Amino acid sequence: MRTPFIVGNWKMNLTLHEVEEFLDAVKGNLPDPKDVECAIAASSIYMDVLTRFCKEETNLKAAAQNCFYKDSGAYTGEVSPMALADMGVKYVMLGHSERRKYFDETNKMINKKVKAVLANNMVPIICCDETMAKRKTYDEMNWVVNPVIEALKGISEDDAKNVVIGYEPSWAIGTGKSASGAEIQEACFLIRETLKDLYGDDIANQIRIVYGGSVNARNVSEIMSQDDVDGVLPGKSSLKAKEFIKIVNYQN
Ligand code: G3P
Repeated sequence: MRTPFIVGNWKMNLTLHEVEEFLDAVKGNLPDPKDVECAIAASSIYMDVLTRFCKEETNLKAAAQNCFYKDSGAYTGEVSPMALADMGVKYVMLGHSERRKYFDETNKMINKKVKAVLANNMVPIICCDETMAKRKTYDEMNWVVNPVIEALKGISEDDAKNVVIGYEPSWAIGTGKSASGAEIQEACFLIRETLKDLYGDDIANQIRIVYGGSVNARNVSEIMSQDDVDGVLPGKSSLKAKEFIKIVNYQN
């Protein structure tokens, strides 16, 4: 049984004051991690305040939105996976469609980052993008699974069972209109089948697949009811504490 997993992706939003207000508001309003595991993916500048909060409010985990593939060195502006782990960050999103779009991140680069995150005992959330054009023109198995296959190159069974895969169709991100339950299930099923081909049924059935793209308190239950969906990645809806609390408490 895979524990539901909900990660709010703040992207490049919020001031320090707004972050502190959000954290105060969610304190005591998050589900037991045994029922739903919750995380917030914040900008690196907020990692200190977030990780300190998560040490007290253990129902929330800290996630980073990206990191470099080396632990230290002359890489001005980059974020070290070793430093993130040292601060208590548990998850690192990798290969978000916005990173691929604006920063030309490649599957090869993401595979290096997956290895660096795992080497620092953190959990990579490997995002796979999908444009509507790809969905319409690629043959069945390619349009969403290639990024997953490439990102997992050289990743052992032992490590693979801990990764999280994020299915985030860019045509649903930021539009206010999520993919339908059927569209989400179709893609997540293909991802699950690909994971079975790579690692066998037992390992594949341990890997959590989460959906991102205009998730909100109104559609979260329908999305979470899909067989191969284990969680969601709300972006805009995670910026307001009230909405995030409703989303993570969707089982109530
Ligand atoms: O990582 C999830 C994010 O890209 C979804 O954003 O605003 O469509 O919920 P949004």
